[in-house]
Amino acid sequence: MNITYYGHACFGVEVGGKHLLFDPFISPNEKAAHIAVDSIPADYILISHGHEDHVADVERIARRTGATLVSNFEIVSWFGAKGLSKGHPMNHGGSWKFDFGRVKYVNAIHSSTLPDGSGGGNPGGFVVQSDAGTFYYSGDTALTYDMKLLGEQFQLDFAFLCIGDNFTMGVDDALLAADFIQCDHIIGMHYDTFGYIVIDHEAARAKFAAQNKQLVLPPIGEAFQAGS
Ligand code: NI
Ligand code: MN
Repeated sequence: MNITYYGHACFGVEVGGKHLLFDPFISPNEKAAHIAVDSIPADYILISHGHEDHVADVERIARRTGATLVSNFEIVSWFGAKGLSKGHPMNHGGSWKFDFGRVKYVNAIHSSTLPDGSGGGNPGGFVVQSDAGTFYYSGDTALTYDMKLLGEQFQLDFAFLCIGDNFTMGVDDALLAADFIQCDHIIGMHYDTFGYIVIDHEAARAKFAAQNKQLVLPPIGEAFQAGS
């Protein structure tokens, strides 16, 4: 799969000929100032929870591309009230077969208030299954034993895990999460954007390597491959 990192927790992933975009927070992110937001392709925008650092560019990109929003019921409804009517509401434990593959909305431990103070439901993550492989996008979350279910239910080819600490798992907990989900190919996210979540890249990579796991920390704007 072709993947592009747009900074913070935002990735574009090409699956089944469709462009999936996760948690777009680009225009307010100084570290992503070189990214042309209005050139990013999106057929689907998957939103893990309601926080500003995950939804900031949803409206701008959805209006241009006509992308379908996939998130929990409350977040899809909130964007629906803004006139973005192409939404697919989900809730925890549910899955749906889209034209690119199957998506399951899975548990996360975090909060989910929307930028205007509205309730954003409960936060989640996504598992995407397709002909090109299966991956997990954790969203913002603590380490949780629920992740063991993902290891038992899915054969994950790779996973996006938050590693920045303070608001989410840090590197050590993400390493345990990789064990729980039985996945050795981890792409880090939710680090370095703000002072609270700056990490030491070399030390983080070394911790994963010491357990025969790979931690990928791609430069912002870089395209790379994972899965098949
Ligand atoms: Ni958050
Ligand atoms: Mn966040």
